[in-house]
Amino acid sequence: MLDLSRQYASLRQELLEAVSRICDSQKYILGEEVNAFEREFAALCTAREAVGCASGTDALWLGLVAAGVKPGDSVITSPFSFFATASSIIRAGARPVFADVDPQTLNLDPSRVEASLRSGGARRTAIMPVHLYGQCADMDAFVSLSAEFGVPLVEDAAQAVGASWSGKLAGSWGAANAFSFYPTKNLSAFGDAGALTTNDPALAEHARSLRNHGGKQRYYHDEIGANSRLDAIQAAVLRVKMPHLARWNEGRRQRARVYDHLLHSAGLTKTGANSSAPVTLLKTRAQAEHIFHQYVIRVHQRDQLRDFLKERGVSTEIYYPVPLHLQKCFAYLGYTPGGLPEAEQAAKDVLALPMFAELEEYEQKHVVDCIAEFYS
Ligand SMILES: Cc1ncc(COP(=O)(O)O)c(C=O)c1O
Repeated sequence: MLDLSRQYASLRQELLEAVSRICDSQKYILGEEVNAFEREFAALCTAREAVGCASGTDALWLGLVAAGVKPGDSVITSPFSFFATASSIIRAGARPVFADVDPQTLNLDPSRVEASLRSGGARRTAIMPVHLYGQCADMDAFVSLSAEFGVPLVEDAAQAVGASWSGKLAGSWGAANAFSFYPTKNLSAFGDAGALTTNDPALAEHARSLRNHGGKQRYYHDEIGANSRLDAIQAAVLRVKMPHLARWNEGRRQRARVYDHLLHSAGLTKTGANSSAPVTLLKTRAQAEHIFHQYVIRVHQRDQLRDFLKERGVSTEIYYPVPLHLQKCFAYLGYTPGGLPEAEQAAKDVLALPMFAELEEYEQKHVVDCIAEFYS
C-alpha cells in the first residue's frame, strides 16, 4: 500500500541531522522547534495560526472544544470516516449526528447536512466536514450553511494537507481545523503527531492552553485540558519534509491519473456504453485540488477481489468496512442498518489501491493487470 522507505531514503541525511540537532539541544517538548513548525505549517495552510499537538485525534478534540462545542451540543458529520471523527465529538461531550455522503465522492453531502440542520430544533450544533481520501468536501456549501445557521465549522483535514477547494486550502476554512501527521499520511512524522489551524488568535491561544493541561502557566489550571503537546523531534522531522509536500502531492495526482487511464484502457471502468463494468471511479469535483491521500475505487465482488490480489502480492485496504453509525460503541445513538444507505453501500464496495509518490508505473500496471485477470 505504502513503502515509506523510499521517501526516507531520499531525505535520510537531512532527517537524521534534524533529529540529532534536537538531541544535542536536549529540548524535547514544545519550545522553539515547535514554534517554528507552527509558523511554517500555518503558512503552508494559509491559516493565521497553527497549534501542534500529539495526534490528529487530539487536534479534532482540541478544535471542537476551542471552537466552543459544549457538553450537550450536537455535531453533524460524516458516517464514512475514520473512528476519531466521531469519537472526538463524544470526547468534547457532544453528540455526533451523522448525515449521509455523496455517492460520487463519498464526502459529506451538504444537502443532507442542511436537512439535518432544518430539523435540528434548538440544540446548538457544529458541522464537521471530512476531506476524505484527500479531496475537500464542498466547502462553499458548508460555509454558506455555517453562516445561515450560525454554527461553527471544524474541518477534519487529517487526510488533506495541501488539498484545496475553489483555490482555498484545507485548514483555512473552518473556525478550527485538524490535521494528522500519522506515519502513513501525506505529510508524516516519525510517530504520532497532529496540528490544528485557525484564523482566530484567541482560539489558538485557548487550544495551546488545552493541549497543556488547560493552563498557560505551569501548575495553574484554568480548566481541564490534556497532555497533548507536540514533541520537538516530530516538529523537526515535519520541518524537513514540508518543503517537499507540494511535489509529493503532485506525484500522487500523477499516479492517480495513471490508475484512471490503466483501469479505463483495460475496459474495467463504468462508462455510458459500458454500464455493467466492475469498477466505478470516484469523482474529483472541478473545484477540488485532490491530493490523493488514498486512491479508492468502488468494485463488484470486493472481498473476493481483495483476496485474489493478496495472493498475487498486491496489498489493498478498506477505508472503511463499517460506517461510524453502525459501530458497536455507538449503538446507543440509535442508528440502524438502512439509515444511511450511501455510506453503508460504500462500506461494502470501496477498495484502496497502493498509492504513494514514489510508486512506479510498472507497479501500477501490475495492480491493474491483476484486477483485469480477476474479472476476466
Ligand atoms: C479522517 C481522519 N480523521 C482523524 C484521524 C486521526 O488522526 P491520528 O491517527 O493522527 O490520531 C485520521 C487518521 O487516520 C483520519 O483519517
